[in-house]
Amino acid sequence: MNKIYICGNKKLDGAVDVQGSKNAALPIIAASLLNHQECVLTNCPDLKDVKAALEIIDRLGGKTAYQEHTAIIKAENIHRSDISDDLMASMRSSVLFLGPIISRTKKAVISYPGGCSIGLRPIDLHLKAFKQLGVLVEETGGHIYCSTEKIKSGKVNLIFPSVGATENIMMLAAVSNAEVIIANAAREPEILDLQNFLNKMGAKISGAGSETIRIIGVEKLNKVQYNIMADRIFAATVFCAAAACGGDVVVKGVVPEQLELMLSMLSGAGAEVTSGKDFVRIKCDKRISGLGKVMTSPYPGFPTDAQAIFMSSLLCAEGTTVFVENIFESRYKHVPELIKMGADIIVDGRLAVVSGCNFIQGAPVEAMDLRGGAALVVAGLSAIGDTVVTGLNHIDRGYEKIEDTFAHLGATIKRLE
Ligand code: UD1
Repeated sequence: MNKIYICGNKKLDGAVDVQGSKNAALPIIAASLLNHQECVLTNCPDLKDVKAALEIIDRLGGKTAYQEHTAIIKAENIHRSDISDDLMASMRSSVLFLGPIISRTKKAVISYPGGCSIGLRPIDLHLKAFKQLGVLVEETGGHIYCSTEKIKSGKVNLIFPSVGATENIMMLAAVSNAEVIIANAAREPEILDLQNFLNKMGAKISGAGSETIRIIGVEKLNKVQYNIMADRIFAATVFCAAAACGGDVVVKGVVPEQLELMLSMLSGAGAEVTSGKDFVRIKCDKRISGLGKVMTSPYPGFPTDAQAIFMSSLLCAEGTTVFVENIFESRYKHVPELIKMGADIIVDGRLAVVSGCNFIQGAPVEAMDLRGGAALVVAGLSAIGDTVVTGLNHIDRGYEKIEDTFAHLGATIKRLE
């Protein structure tokens, strides 16, 4: 079994390049299915979820290749409309293929998606929108059967700005005869990256990044080369580690505006934050302070994906931080593991109260989900003594060799096979 071994309590120092964004890459790979011509994706992160997404395209009849952060996708001949249960179970984002498969083949069959065990993750908003846009949806025997003759024009009002539903609707309508408006759309930067990718291929989409997105369907798309955006959560993970351990780190290749809220919070906690056009530097040479209250909410609010890693950075802060998890109902699976390390955390439903302690101690801990697993690595880096993190299959879904990133910054960390 793979494990990460960490001997903690060392300051971090140095510069790392940000990785390409997982949450942008996955919908962009799915959207490549809409194009009969070649899509070349650069800055495509080397992750388990990316490989699973490429495998879905291969099994549908497309041809994919991946080398050195470049994915080449040719979806000229798509001869299947279904995604196997094993691929659906391997990651939740497999649901993002629903829109593109229906667009390409007029039908689709999938089972309910898997992914991190962070609580119920229904796809009712995707399906409701699809029905409104002329897709017949039947749910039976654990499978979802979709078919359509033609995508209809219309305005879809999302009752919650779901990232995945917004992306799926954009992809369903991008190549069609319809004109579709999404109201209360998710505003995450990854949605804008998907719009930029689709438009670079010839789609006509506007408004991504705002609450209203307009898609004017086009007949076909053109060959494209596209550079995937930087991973905001990777960057936040490094910043939180620097805040927890102390030190002086630079993350290169980021878009500082996308990180504004998280950076202002770290600065409020006492870290020294400076940024340039495409880098952020965090210096921290004293004990940071608790943040009072941290509430997750859709972008531009504080991201749920950064909740666990921020929590780890605040375990030894001076004062208390109360986390309120508003997006997922069960996203505190890292807490019992952090408590094993000596953290003082009380969870009550969606609340987690973190009282800063003087130090935490290394321990054997297990990652239960992707970001919670990264949080255990951050905690291990700042803890006194040795930590062994298991459950790396979760962490590897979203981080390219997380141990190399921190070893490069001077930490004593290695993977044990
Ligand atoms: C995406 C991100 C994930 C992030 C999440 C919230 C990707 C690949 N994943 O996930 O890392 O944590 O956004 O920022 O981009 N919901 C419903 N019905 C639906 C859809 C969603 O009730 O049909 C609920 C979910 O259960 C959840 C909330 O809405 O409680 C947010 O989900 P959503 O924004 O859709 O997240 P994902 O697209 O799954």
